[in-house]
Amino acid sequence: MEQSSASPHVLIFPLPIQGPIKCMLKLAELLCLAPDLHVTFLNTDHNHRRLLLYTDIQSRFATYPQFRFETISDGLPEDHPRSGDRFMDLFDSLETVTKPLFKEMLSSGIGRPVTCIIADGVLNFSFEIAEEVGIPLMYFDTISPCGLWTYFCVPKLIDAGELPFEGDDLDAPIKSVPGMEGFLRRRDLPDFCRIGDLNDPVAKIIVKEVQLVPRARGLILNTFEEVDEPVLSHMRSLCPNLYPIGPLHTHLKMKLATEPTPPGPQQASSSSLWQEDRSCLKWLDAQPPKSVIYVSIGSLAMMTSDQVMEFWYGLVNSGHRFLWVRRPNSIPGGDWEGQIPKEVLEATAKRGWLVSWAPQEEVLAHPAIGGFLTHSGWNSTLESMVEGVPMVCWPYFVDQQVNSRFVSEVWKLGIDMKDTCDRVVIEKMIKDVMGLRRDEFVVSADRIAKLARESVSEGGSSSCNLERLIEDIRLMKM
Ligand code: UDX
Repeated sequence: MEQSSASPHVLIFPLPIQGPIKCMLKLAELLCLAPDLHVTFLNTDHNHRRLLLYTDIQSRFATYPQFRFETISDGLPEDHPRSGDRFMDLFDSLETVTKPLFKEMLSSGIGRPVTCIIADGVLNFSFEIAEEVGIPLMYFDTISPCGLWTYFCVPKLIDAGELPFEGDDLDAPIKSVPGMEGFLRRRDLPDFCRIGDLNDPVAKIIVKEVQLVPRARGLILNTFEEVDEPVLSHMRSLCPNLYPIGPLHTHLKMKLATEPTPPGPQQASSSSLWQEDRSCLKWLDAQPPKSVIYVSIGSLAMMTSDQVMEFWYGLVNSGHRFLWVRRPNSIPGGDWEGQIPKEVLEATAKRGWLVSWAPQEEVLAHPAIGGFLTHSGWNSTLESMVEGVPMVCWPYFVDQQVNSRFVSEVWKLGIDMKDTCDRVVIEKMIKDVMGLRRDEFVVSADRIAKLARESVSEGGSSSCNLERLIEDIRLMKM
């Protein structure tokens, strides 16, 4: 395809799951604030239907005349769970069904010619297709840079004989991830490293991803230089053209607030794939400052009914108030709900509030929130960081094991509970974060929250990196 001399036109293609979609929509809106850029956001049909059902995203983006949504099939039936032990079906079908459709879409054109593709770093096929149709591609890896850097080091770990693990000591130190010597243990590596089989489907995708990402024109990251500087400097040895432009949700809020003529409401809209239950905000309004622990395991993690009971007892026995998100279908099987002891239900009625999906950014910013029991997904971690909320981390998979180690050992923002799900431990950690050890975490939390805000203010590192990204996109049209 020939490069066009028309206006720059970016096609944004997220991995079709909540975290990446949310990040990329923020990026899309930030790009729309540059009036000469045309932006197309490519959603799967399934997710687009959900966004239209649960958010005002259509009308929000209608305020940007140079923006449009496009949709593509993910190849799965509408009622497929796309999570838990069926999550990998999504990757298979993206490869077999979506990939050829994507190529066809780019070859036949989507209105004006696309001058730059920004695809999720894990969508490996997008690189191949971009090369075939001759459109420059940038990757946006929406996971954490610390997690991504451990992915990059997988070949090094294999060469050094640190992978696959020999023996079952998960506390053994890891020495071959530059910058993380001294605090990284086997248990802190991404979960797929424990399988010890590089033919595992997740490992195969990641090995391919780390080969392709450095070949893209650039790598966009949802972080800010000040918090991830050591990791970013290592990453630059492989991917010199980095654009750390996060925290994206704060960046967008800041830009909308300072726009001379904002295109619509000054707040970014929700991008939830589930119906947000806003009753929790009213409940929070009635709670004392810093008195509530917020509990959520994000959009993909699952819990067994035994784990739910351990969480529940830990929360109730801590004596603290709690707001708990239980995502639909995140707890498979059985009639466990009919067997909850009366004292647990009574304590929950007094001190707890349960919802199936919350307006999380608003929740974390609420003055009543004092702590976050989280699965350590990267968006959740950043959202907590920006609000200065200390965390208890219970990582589930991929980058989350690394993130939780950074929260406790590097950033000193909370406690890592990985590989444990015991009511006594949960109770103790909640008491620590909400009370006994709170001061210890709040000092770092306040410092990092301030750095995050500065990075997205005018002249801050993320703000300058975004300007450079926009400039580079403009140059790609020639
Ligand atoms: C996935 C991976 O699991 C994660 O490790 C990776 O870093 C990104 O993709 P996910 O489970 O979606 O993460 O978690 P996270 O990255 O934290 O994103 C969840 C998003 O959903 C957050 O932005 C959060 O604000 C939002 N959310 C969550 C809500 O809006 N309401 C809720 O009730 C729960």
